[in-house]
Amino acid sequence: MKRIAVLTSGGDAPGMNAAVRAIVRKGIYEGFEVYGINYGFAGLVSGDIRKLTPKDVSDTIGRGGTFLYSARFPEFAQREGQEKGIEQLKKFGIEGLVVIGGDGSYRGAVALTKLGFPTVGVPGTIDNDIPGTDYTIGFDTAINTVLEAIDRLRDTATSHVRTFIVEVMGRNAGDIALWTGIGSGAEQILIPEHDYSIENVANEIKRGRENGKKHTIIVLAEGVMSGDELARKLWEHDEDFHTRVTVLGHVQRGGSPTARDRVLASQFGSKAVDLLKDGIGGVAVGIIGDKVIYSDIVDLLENGKHLPNLDLYQLNKEISF
Ligand code: F6P
Repeated sequence: MKRIAVLTSGGDAPGMNAAVRAIVRKGIYEGFEVYGINYGFAGLVSGDIRKLTPKDVSDTIGRGGTFLYSARFPEFAQREGQEKGIEQLKKFGIEGLVVIGGDGSYRGAVALTKLGFPTVGVPGTIDNDIPGTDYTIGFDTAINTVLEAIDRLRDTATSHVRTFIVEVMGRNAGDIALWTGIGSGAEQILIPEHDYSIENVANEIKRGRENGKKHTIIVLAEGVMSGDELARKLWEHDEDFHTRVTVLGHVQRGGSPTARDRVLASQFGSKAVDLLKDGIGGVAVGIIGDKVIYSDIVDLLENGKHLPNLDLYQLNKEISF
């Protein structure tokens, strides 16, 4: 194998640039020529591909977003798009591909794997919802961004003795809510992986007030329901409940990656190159404990399931009253 390529796909995540940088630098260090594909699988199909030099990735390790651009490209689910993508790779003499992204991107990587093209997945998403790894690139930065926002909201919540609902991202996963709920000292955390009842939420808020709490912060994962819906349900339960809703939205995806995300991305990028060098494709890298590992990507996608650490959920119950 002489030429490899990298693309970023799906929602951007802080640290994607650091991963691309590591792939380019480590790839060149190992004697590869490294190509960058713009706009994810869309650019793969259209042939938006260019050679990258070590200089092209200078000053990118600390930048949020992805300088290779990203796109959601559902058309890649069709065989026709996949074959076109492989044709483009062959046209450029590329023999191995690294795909950085979330589960949608992994599906594209699996399709290429099933067609026999050596592909390595690198988990990059703020949601931290990818099986086969404890952490994904971007999660640490996102939760620190959320924490900063909630710390600010707490000032206002306390000053006005109010209840704030903070809706955070995560798609169907509760990791962002769980970690930021604990980190911000939130009174309630609602995640899709755990049951809740409006009555309990309301009772806990009341109990806190009776105990002299001046503020209540509810961190709500978007996968449960929207912040507005929760506010309405609480009000329907008890018309004395007046809440303020903050939807943090895409601010959670931006910003300079934390040290942890930069290091993780560099480790993942380097491992992906090692694997292609050894002729190993059809896998995804991950970190379990402090070990960088890899797993069969088809098996991950078909049988793997990500679950948040529910001990953290219980922990919050024990320390948030
Ligand atoms: O997967 C990352 C993520 O930010 C999710 O948390 C969120 O549900 C989704 O992407 C939003 O997608 P889009 O940027 O396409 O609106």
